[in-house]
Amino acid sequence: LADGPLDGRHVLVTSGPTHEPIDPVRYIANQSSGAQGTAIAAALRDLGARVTFVTGPAQVPPPQGVTVVRVETAREMLLAVEAALPAEAAVFAAAVADWRVANAAGQKMKKDGSGRPPALEFTENPDILATVSRMGAGRPRLVVGFAAETHDVERHATEKRIRKGCDWIVANDVSPETGIMGGSENAVTIIDADGAEHWVRMSKTDVARRLAARIADRLKRE
Ligand code: C5P
Repeated sequence: LADGPLDGRHVLVTSGPTHEPIDPVRYIANQSSGAQGTAIAAALRDLGARVTFVTGPAQVPPPQGVTVVRVETAREMLLAVEAALPAEAAVFAAAVADWRVANAAGQKMKKDGSGRPPALEFTENPDILATVSRMGAGRPRLVVGFAAETHDVERHATEKRIRKGCDWIVANDVSPETGIMGGSENAVTIIDADGAEHWVRMSKTDVARRLAARIADRLKRE
């Protein structure tokens, strides 16, 4: 595709869930399908961007024509993101596990006959979005985070934008009755320094196209 608005520009996208091991054969995961992140990577590619796509174990295949980096855990995702920088823009669509198991076993856990279940201890994972947002030199010019909320979406997302230090937050309501998580549609609110922009409910593909166009517009204006 010649003469796309993002021609040759490097953009990073994270996507999918992370898997956090309990032992060599068990893990903690979440419901993220990777659909929205995959659609965003494809839309950025279609505008001419050189896309690095860092993905956890997603249910949908990664897009063609992008550089795919597969990871399992949040810590691996952070390392892959740092290795992929610099980028002009970074979109953090992954549903990263907030916690990992601190006492993960090196061997498969067995029932010990006592009838007592094992106790898992958790420790906090690195926040990839916040880490990249607060980089000094080498920070992407545009850092976009997501906020999956179940109530007070706009207020929580506005606070999250400030707390994480990113430029935009793409907020969505993931209450079970919306069918958004794992579904093919999304209804998002874009929060930036100027306020909130509500988008009507549309396919995740259309959300991705509109978001990619907004990113191209923003990079063009600086
Ligand atoms: O705090 P919360 O998980 O709701 O923030 C969501 C945003 O932060 C998403 O953009 C997600 O990709 C990113 N995130 C991250 N690393 C984490 C947790 C969240 O990059 N450990």
